[in-house]
Amino acid sequence: MKKSKAGILTCLAICATLVLAGCGNSASTGSAGSASSNSPSTKTSVGIVLPTKAESRWPMAQKEFEQVLPGATILYSNGDTATEKTNVESLISKGVKVIVICPQDATAAAAEVDEAHDKGIKVISYDRLIMNTPNVNYYVTFDSVAVGAAQAKYLVDNAKGTGNHLYLYAGALSDNNAFLFFQGAWSVLQPKIADGTFVIENSSIANSLKNTPTLSHDQLAQIIGQITTNWDPATAKTLAQANLAKATTAQKGVCYVLAPNDDTSRAITDTFRADKAVTQIYSTGQDFTQASLQYILDGKQSMTVWKSDKYLVDDVKDIVDAIQTNTKPSVIVTTYNNGKADIPSTKAPLTIVTKANAVNIINSSGLYTVSNGKVNPVK
Ligand code: BGC
Repeated sequence: MKKSKAGILTCLAICATLVLAGCGNSASTGSAGSASSNSPSTKTSVGIVLPTKAESRWPMAQKEFEQVLPGATILYSNGDTATEKTNVESLISKGVKVIVICPQDATAAAAEVDEAHDKGIKVISYDRLIMNTPNVNYYVTFDSVAVGAAQAKYLVDNAKGTGNHLYLYAGALSDNNAFLFFQGAWSVLQPKIADGTFVIENSSIANSLKNTPTLSHDQLAQIIGQITTNWDPATAKTLAQANLAKATTAQKGVCYVLAPNDDTSRAITDTFRADKAVTQIYSTGQDFTQASLQYILDGKQSMTVWKSDKYLVDDVKDIVDAIQTNTKPSVIVTTYNNGKADIPSTKAPLTIVTKANAVNIINSSGLYTVSNGKVNPVK
């Protein structure tokens, strides 16, 4: 393993980082049905379905799965719900006992979960919650509301006076996390919008709700629908370009950008930097991607939230081992309601990374190192 749990904990302590409240495309060809295919202590056969390689987060998760559950079958859905369903069905026919799914679409995934459940297979929802089925057995996750709150706090902490220009961007409507991130961000930003610290420059819907501290799911969906990146950098760039084309020079200058993740943040901030009327940008992100860490060191992205997949994958292993021995997993600390049931859930810690602490955190991450100002992967 490149990064031990102890290493992460040491990093957290040393850096005093803020811990807040067809399909197939097989990535690992291990025999999912073989009892000895996983780590020595984990005898249960496991299949893993990840949404897409096109978003940086999931290949990062894949690496951790390969370390902790070697031999488990890892399939990618290529951003397509039909492929995801076929992947789950192929794992069912291989005879796996546990399927870990990070859904492409939170609601569409319910049907394949029900199929797995009917065959007696346990389902673990990974990072993104699968909605509207009682048959999700466990959910391994971070506190996604806290992720959005941390992004917003960064912007608030760096605002000066009143009338600061705020540009809001969100994840995909099909991803429950996008709602949680925005909900968390709104809880911190809304009082500062209501009191005039910030002026929302790119969302008429968010602006019309500026005096509403707690948004309903429907209100969140309306706002996200107006500012969605769909987790896609190209979509994010097009939207930012359209927002800046519409904004006057007086709405630019120093800009505060709530960008939902690293991949979209780089696309959005590149677009803002290309606008001569933008003089300074404060921007957020999440995922601890190599490219965004470089942006942070270069002063082109302001912060990111590291959600180490090592934590989630270790939690998956703990749950799989508990299933194997028919015991209660020790990592379950809370529940999330998915519209049909309260799903037993984990809550992994977050690390907030800014230019001030980036070098220390990168160098102790076990994932990358910094040398001569350049971020390189650890081999
Ligand atoms: C994850 C983020 C990721 C995004 C796009 C979200 O559900 O929580 O870490 O950046 O999806 O893949």
